[in-house]
Amino acid sequence: MEKEGFLFGAATSAYQIEGATGEDGRGPSIWDVFCQRPGAIRDGSSGEPACDHYRRWREDLQWMRWLGLKAYRFSVAWPRILPGGKGRINPKGLAFYDRLVDALLEAGITPFLTLYHWDLPWALEERGGWRSRETAYAFAEYTALVARALADRVPYFATLNEPWCSAFLGHFTGEHAPGLRNLEAALRAAHHLLLGHGLAVEALRAAGAKRVGIVLNFTWVEGEDEEAVERADRYHNRFFLDPLLGRGYPESPFANPPSVPIYPKDMERMARPLDFLGVNYYTRARVARGEGLLPVRYLPPERPTTAMGWEVYPEGLYRLLRRLARETPWPLFVTENGAAYPDLWRGEEVVEDPERVAYLESHLEAVGRARSEGVDVRGYFAWSLLDNFEWAHGYTKRFGLLYVDYPTGRRIPKRSALWYRERILRGGG
Ligand code: FCB
Repeated sequence: MEKEGFLFGAATSAYQIEGATGEDGRGPSIWDVFCQRPGAIRDGSSGEPACDHYRRWREDLQWMRWLGLKAYRFSVAWPRILPGGKGRINPKGLAFYDRLVDALLEAGITPFLTLYHWDLPWALEERGGWRSRETAYAFAEYTALVARALADRVPYFATLNEPWCSAFLGHFTGEHAPGLRNLEAALRAAHHLLLGHGLAVEALRAAGAKRVGIVLNFTWVEGEDEEAVERADRYHNRFFLDPLLGRGYPESPFANPPSVPIYPKDMERMARPLDFLGVNYYTRARVARGEGLLPVRYLPPERPTTAMGWEVYPEGLYRLLRRLARETPWPLFVTENGAAYPDLWRGEEVVEDPERVAYLESHLEAVGRARSEGVDVRGYFAWSLLDNFEWAHGYTKRFGLLYVDYPTGRRIPKRSALWYRERILRGGG
C-alpha cells in the first residue's frame, strides 16, 4: 500500500453533484422527497440539477487531471443501482460508475468508492428506512452487487459515510432526510446502520474487495466540565467508533434513553476487521453541562469561523489523528476536510478564496505533523472537488476547489485549486 505514496485527493458525493435524478432509471431517494418539504432546504432547492455531474463527468475528470489528484473519493447512488432499494437491478445506473472507474484508472487517479452517502432509496424508507432491520440486509445486497461489478478495479471501498449524520441529523434533530425528531428512531437507525456496515464488509470480502473501511465524522470536543466533555465525546465520536472496535456501545450520552433491540451476533458483525478508517474532520465543539435528552450545551466559538459557523481549529485534527492512532488498529485517511466561504465570481479566471487556502494549508500542516510523529495517515481528501448541493443549506454554502456558476454550470478554478495543485506537485505528505 505504501508503494502508492500519500494519496492527495478530493471528495464528492452522488446526490450533491450528479443531478439527473430522473435519468436512466434512477429511483427516488429520501433526499428527493425531503427536499420537497417546505422549509427543509434553506433556499428551497434540491439535488436537481446540482452540478449536472451525471452529464458533465468527463469535464470534471479533466479538472481532476489538471489538479493532479492521485485519488478521487465519490459515492455510488444506491437508487441508481436498485431503483426500488432491492430486487430489480438497473444496469444503466451501474454502467455510469463502471465508465467513471475506468476513466479514473486511465487517468492514473485511484478510485475511492463510498457505498452510502445518505441517499437511501425512497422505497426502503416507506418500509421503515434505517429504523428497520431489513434495510441493513438490503444494504448488504446492494453492496454485493456493486462489489461484484467493481471490486476488480476499485482498490478502496468505504461502506458508510458519516452514519452519525444519517442517524442523528436524520432522525433526532430532523435537519437531514428523512427529517424525524425521535430519539428511539435515531437509536434504531444507528444500530441498523452499524449492522448494515458489518454485513456490507462481509459482502465486500466475499466479492474480493481489496481494502474495506468506513468513514466517520469526528468533532474535537473541549470544555472545562469533564463530565460534559466526556458525554459529548460519547455522542459525537464514540457512539460509532466503539462498536467498530468491538467494544460495544459506550454508556449512552442521552438521559433515560429508550432501549433498542439488539440481536445475538449484532455486535460481533459490526466489529469485522477493517483495512482503514476514513476520518472526516471540520471543526471542534466547546461544551458545558446542559439539560434535556442530550444534557450538553454548546458554547459559542472562540476563534474565527467558516461560512457554516464552524470554528477553524486545525489543532483538533492533529490531536484527533494522534488519538485515533493510539486507540484504533487501522491506517487512517482524512476522507474529508475543507471549508465553506462566501466566494464571489465576477467573470475572473480565478476566484480568490484566501481563507480556504489558509484553512487547507493549516489542516494539511496538522496532518503532516501527526505523520512526522508516526501516525499512519495514508491520504487526504479535500472536501470538495467542486461547489455543490450542501444538504439542508442547499446551494448557499460553497466548499469547492472549483467554483460552480449554477446558472450555466461552468466550473471556474478558485485560488485554492491552484494552491492544492502546487501542493500535490511538491508531493510528500
Ligand atoms: C460532511 C458530509 C459532506 C459535506 C460536508 C460539508 O458532513 O459528509 O457530504 O456535506 O460535511
